[in-house]
Amino acid sequence: MNRQLILGYGLGGCALLAAVSMAGSFAATSGVAARDRASTINRIQDIPLSVRIFFRPLPERMPGGEEDTPERIALGQRLFFERGVSLTKSQSCNDCHRLDGGRTGVDNLPTSPGAKGLAGTRNAQTVLNAGFQRVQFWDGRAADLVEQAKGPLLNPIEMAMRTEQDVVDRLAEDPNYHDAFERAFPGQGEPITFDNVARAIAAFERTLITPARFDRYLRGQTDALTVAEKRGLLRFVDTGCVECHGSVPVGGRLLKKLGVYHPYENASDVGRYGITGHEEDRFVFKVCMLRNVTRTAPYFHNGSILTLPEAVAQMAWMQLNVRLAPAEIDEIVGFLHTLEGEHPLEIDEPYVPPRTESLP
Ligand code: HEC
Ligand code: HEC
Repeated sequence: MNRQLILGYGLGGCALLAAVSMAGSFAATSGVAARDRASTINRIQDIPLSVRIFFRPLPERMPGGEEDTPERIALGQRLFFERGVSLTKSQSCNDCHRLDGGRTGVDNLPTSPGAKGLAGTRNAQTVLNAGFQRVQFWDGRAADLVEQAKGPLLNPIEMAMRTEQDVVDRLAEDPNYHDAFERAFPGQGEPITFDNVARAIAAFERTLITPARFDRYLRGQTDALTVAEKRGLLRFVDTGCVECHGSVPVGGRLLKKLGVYHPYENASDVGRYGITGHEEDRFVFKVCMLRNVTRTAPYFHNGSILTLPEAVAQMAWMQLNVRLAPAEIDEIVGFLHTLEGEHPLEIDEPYVPPRTESLP
């Protein structure tokens, strides 16, 4: 595979030469607009073909948002920060997926304490860009953001509401919510429904898009990355990380076995096998999306890998049978920094830590 990729760069180079000479003749004949167009083509040609094949820049919108109105998004944002929809009124989505203070949609804990003070067994992933993934959760058990949002509300360890009706009743106690739901879902007899709660939250989550320097690079601004970062990008491609971590989210599109060549040290979580019961799904997990990964430590489904260099080293060994040298790990981590995006929200409210109640 590496040989093919190297061939790829060669072809990219030839195409670049052709584009440079074409750009010259365009500019002479049809003025500034054509020159700009030609030089954009020319800059995109400057990006190695192997990179262009595997990655896509972030689009401005997330799929599925055709009916998202500002009213629905605003309601979803409010619900995302609403602790009233948890059993002990102590837990909101934001307590585990923090977006306040410029945080990256995670709590940076290995596992998160829920509404009863108990922690689950898995690390909370980021909600930023989550809707660009093909499936949700570590084992891919939710198809999309709407289905996903229903999970934590009723999960006994997370928000621990007993029934869908309990969620509806809690919200109906607040007259302001009634109006907000009516504006977000006009023309429905009784707009406060469990389904609409999930739809509004998903509409808000679809606005959590974080364009990064890497996107500017993919769109043709080739100086958006430093020489060292470009080296890291090629190292990421050449080592084979792109086999699994590619496309728009740089991951998030495939379910793969963790431990292709060498097993993961902690095999207590069987991954997708727990959902399907198929032997071939044992230790299969969703390939992580790597956007903002420099800010979402700790790593892996149980949050037991504390630093990014360690996660990169383990990935190369477990998934690709490669022992990376420290300098190579640094190069790849350097590239991963270019995936740090602009924060989509400005929230000034100070964060008040939840009151955790221990069980009797
Ligand atoms: C107690 C902590 C906690 C709370 C509260 C919580 N989550 Fe999560 N969230 C998690 C954990 C842990 C996972 C991973 C679970 C798994 O994959 O089995 C997760 C996964 C997700 C994912 C999937 C991301 C991906 O890449 O697959 C999304 C989206 C998400 N949560 C959104 C929400 C929303 C919306 C709410 C509020 C309705 C919420 N969460 C409440 C801890 C929490
Ligand atoms: C065969 C597919 C595959 C290959 C190749 C692969 N990965 Fe992964 N990667 C995964 C899976 C699956 C996970 C989820 C791990 C888990 O469940 O704990 C993951 C997780 C990660 C994480 C953790 C992110 C987080 O938020 O916890 C990082 C970082 C990462 N990969 C980087 C890399 C790098 C760098 C390479 C190349 C050296 C690479 N991966 C190669 C499949 C792959």
